[in-house]
Amino acid sequence: MSLAFAWPPEAYLWFKTLHIVGVVVWFAGLFYLVRLFIYHREAEELEPALVEPFQQQYALMARRLANIITTPGMVVAVVCAAGLLSVNPSWLQQGWMHAKLAFVAALLAYHAFCYRLMGQLQQGTCRWSPKQLRALNELPTLLLVIVVMLVVFKNQFPTGAATWLIVALVLFMAASIQLYARWRRLRAERLRAEQLAAEQLAVAAGGGGAAA
Ligand code: HEM
Repeated sequence: MSLAFAWPPEAYLWFKTLHIVGVVVWFAGLFYLVRLFIYHREAEELEPALVEPFQQQYALMARRLANIITTPGMVVAVVCAAGLLSVNPSWLQQGWMHAKLAFVAALLAYHAFCYRLMGQLQQGTCRWSPKQLRALNELPTLLLVIVVMLVVFKNQFPTGAATWLIVALVLFMAASIQLYARWRRLRAERLRAEQLAAEQLAVAAGGGGAAA
């Protein structure tokens, strides 16, 4: 009697379905997590009495998002990827899979780094500015594009076109971050100027009333 385990014929498709679902959940979590870190840091610009309650709320939201959505999504994606490889181990002999595994390792390192940042934010020791966090938040997008291209094109990976695509994406992201930072700075300056004008008007009106 043979003890060798044989997967049922449809196992591969089940693993692939759950792998894709896990990947979607994982990325949804990763994208929103760093956005919460940005809000956490930007809360420092609020009135002093509001800073702590807002930051506590963002820290709670980040912890729950990371532990209830992001990490379970990652576990489902990785466990089902292991299932895919155990049904079809020949993938491990292919170049595209080696490249994919290298980028997935980078993604796992990013995931771990997000936990580190989350700890620092909770302890008030995070030195990353909102602008730097915005740039960091683009990293999983780049990894997503590369990994999906690898899994779709496999050994016919279009290296030249992919390089152009990544360069265009990086330029677009960098320009968007700079423009947004400029827009926020100009808006803050305008609000400060309006507030100053309102205060001066109030003083003038008060002074006029006393004179009358
Ligand atoms: C833990 C490491 C991972 C391994 C070992 C792995 C392995 C695999 C394998 C063997 C397939 C089936 C390929 C096929 O049947 O053509 C697959 C499909 C897929 N993987 Fe992964 N994967 C991993 C992580 C990821 C990540 C992080 C992403 C997203 C960024 C991803 C996205 C996809 C997609 C979209 C498919 C479906 C492709 C298709 O059916 O054409 N995988 N993966």
